[in-house]
Amino acid sequence: MKNETVNYPEITNERYRLNYHITAPAGWMNDPNGFCFYKGYYHIFYQHHPESVEWGPMHWGHSRSKDLVNWERLPIALFPGDKEDKDGCFSGSAIVKDDRLYLIYTGHNLKDENDPDSYWQNQNLAFSDDGINFQKYAGNPVISIPPADNAADFRDPKIWYKNGKYYIVIGSKNEVGLGRVIMYSSENLEQWDYLGPIATAKSVDSEGFVWECPDLFEIEGQDVLIMSPQGIKADELKYRNFFQTGYLIGKFDEDTHTLSHGEFTELDFGHDFYATQSMLTPDGRRIAFGWMDMWESPMPEQQDGWAGALTFPRELKMKAGKLLMTPVKEIEKLRKKVLLDVVNPEQNTISFKAPTKSFEYLANFDGKNDVVVKVQDSERKLLLELNYRSETGKVTLQKYNDDLLRETNITVSGQMDIHLLMDNSSAELFVNNGEACFSERIYDEKELTIETSSGSTNYDIKIYELGGEM
Ligand code: FRU
Repeated sequence: MKNETVNYPEITNERYRLNYHITAPAGWMNDPNGFCFYKGYYHIFYQHHPESVEWGPMHWGHSRSKDLVNWERLPIALFPGDKEDKDGCFSGSAIVKDDRLYLIYTGHNLKDENDPDSYWQNQNLAFSDDGINFQKYAGNPVISIPPADNAADFRDPKIWYKNGKYYIVIGSKNEVGLGRVIMYSSENLEQWDYLGPIATAKSVDSEGFVWECPDLFEIEGQDVLIMSPQGIKADELKYRNFFQTGYLIGKFDEDTHTLSHGEFTELDFGHDFYATQSMLTPDGRRIAFGWMDMWESPMPEQQDGWAGALTFPRELKMKAGKLLMTPVKEIEKLRKKVLLDVVNPEQNTISFKAPTKSFEYLANFDGKNDVVVKVQDSERKLLLELNYRSETGKVTLQKYNDDLLRETNITVSGQMDIHLLMDNSSAELFVNNGEACFSERIYDEKELTIETSSGSTNYDIKIYELGGEM
């Protein structure tokens, strides 16, 4: 494998750097890849262009952690430029077999270097025995061409092992331009048998033209396919982002390899969330990362020598036919000190000026009251406004530079909680135990004030300063 020295762009300003989220040391990053647990460490990789703040030939950046919240950056794991991944090592996943860590990833190749649309894609393996140094498999590609009824879009294998066999789902577009997910199985990771499409979009407008980054798993007795479809048309306050990430819940038929499922539902309602990848932890939790940005959105940190971040790791749970996300419980390890601790305040509104921009806000309300949480800067410029209407269960989020709200509904019985993670240029909001999530990048250099109001004083708020090793 090529192992060039990397000329990273210089980080010229730290103003938007994140303190407890995964970012590249410098340069560009997008999707989380290869999320796994190997020899005592969680590993997360990511799509990375180390030499520029723009997307380009994809490498795999790499970090590892013993606890999911303190991370250590490792050398780049995969460099593109070999015969089967000439123009990029695109997204993929990881699995441990016989004590060896395997990565399965998409090789991206251009027929014409001057035409980015002239690509072909295949699937490849790389492996490591120390979890740090990776070698590409000599027999690559392990899947050389897509099935006959597929377009060139054939990427982002997600792997798992079940009853003596390996399986992958791959993001795809069929010959008539509909997004879908296809599936393969293997006895040995090297030879793969095609099992067909597991689910296909009903139409481009409603369900998209490529389903990127698929992830199929069972959770609490249900089968779930998370994927990131491109091309869904906005529908009132739904599907407002350039591309979406969401899920289908249903039953996977092991004989026909098809998923009978319900409606496509968005997983996070914020502006900056894409391309999730999950894993099952040794203690049985399903944890996911997403890319906390959106294609085509402005990224002001590019001026400072870097671009992109992953979300905080989130635990997935199923409740009443909805997939919920909450920050992993290990967040407790990042709590440095209590900044605010209020129970049943005297007034309905509390304003708190935060001495740091990396903090965690936890609040519990009586669900019978409306709630408003505003994030403002020291000049009272509104950056975010979260509104909960108790009568309808409606939760809306307004971001200051966007005239379109994001909106969803929750079902509250008794208490309603809000969990907010702020980290310098990011905000992740989890409402009602993760029933409504909003991931946002926000860029403001001034101090922050959080203003909380509720219809009664029957609420409590706790704010912690957060920080970890990154
Ligand atoms: C999703 C995606 C993937 C692809 C990767 C390339 O954001 O487009 O489908 O593998 O990014 O960087």
